[in-house]
Amino acid sequence: MIVVTGATGNIGRTLMPLLAERGGDVVAVSRRPQPDGLPVGVRQAQADVGNSASMRSVLNGADSFFLLLGGELNGHGESPNALIDTALEAGVKRIVLLSSQINSTRPEAPSHARLRDFEAAVRACGADYTILRPGGFSSNAFAWAEPIRAKRTVFAPFGDVALPVVDPADIAAVAAAALSEEGHAGRTYELTGPEAISPRRQADVISQALGEDIAFVELSRDQAHAHMAQFMPEEVIDGTLDVLGLPLPTEQAISTDVEDVLGRPPRPFSEWVARNLPAFR
Ligand SMILES: NC(=O)c1ccc[n+]([C@@H]2O[C@H](COP(=O)([O-])OP(=O)(O)OC[C@H]3O[C@@H](n4cnc5c(N)ncnc54)[C@H](OP(=O)(O)O)[C@@H]3O)[C@@H](O)[C@H]2O)c1
Repeated sequence: MIVVTGATGNIGRTLMPLLAERGGDVVAVSRRPQPDGLPVGVRQAQADVGNSASMRSVLNGADSFFLLLGGELNGHGESPNALIDTALEAGVKRIVLLSSQINSTRPEAPSHARLRDFEAAVRACGADYTILRPGGFSSNAFAWAEPIRAKRTVFAPFGDVALPVVDPADIAAVAAAALSEEGHAGRTYELTGPEAISPRRQADVISQALGEDIAFVELSRDQAHAHMAQFMPEEVIDGTLDVLGLPLPTEQAISTDVEDVLGRPPRPFSEWVARNLPAFR
């Protein structure tokens, strides 16, 4: 049995069908009683990954556990060992943790201390583990969907700073491999897209796909901070803005890990746009 947290999110929505196709017993965790869009054959369990007591019965009898910390859980919450110990007591033998590239490139960053604590707890727990460290997601462009629909305008900071954003579907494909194949235990994968692409260029790609002009308005760092505070824990915002505005060479480089695991190159931003175009219409 594989238990998947974050099942309704950007990665989880693609990961669930990939695991369902491989057969086996898959459980999707959501705080909602009846989330939409789960594939046939996947069971749903209502629980909160931020509350280890609520996860106890869900994890009971699981072999593998995909652990993703949604929303504010990246910034604060229960100690990592409350959840990891619950998983081990329930019988989990393999944990795949969704972390962040920042823990490779800026190992002291205060913004990502909590994810580092989870990494340390997973590494020390004795189960097989794989750690996924993605860079920025292509799906962060969903934040532009409403202003594009309403005003045909993108508002974003650091318009000309290019980063190799990664498609959450590629993260999901690597997670599916790590959860259901041998050979990934003890590995830490850095996951990026195939090319560095700036926010202004991303807006152009959406504009071309829509066949309509889109204006680009560059936000100041303070304006971006205020916007991100609506959906990101305060602890994480400054570290994220540091990467977006002043990336290190290692954060602009292309990792080979997606291709090494999947045997194909990572998908470009244009493919993510093509799959998600209705959100911008
Ligand atoms: N976005 C990036 O550029 C980026 C880069 C590197 C790493 N990451 C990491 O990626 C993860 C986010 O991945 P994602 O975009 O797939 O996630 P997401 O879509 O934002 O959230 C995944 C799911 O987590 C659940 N969730 C949200 N807030 C929660 C909370 N406070 N307590 C419990 N559950 C909560 C929600 O499910 P229900 O409502 O169904 O419960 C949500 O669908 C984070 O750990 C982040 O650090 C992101």
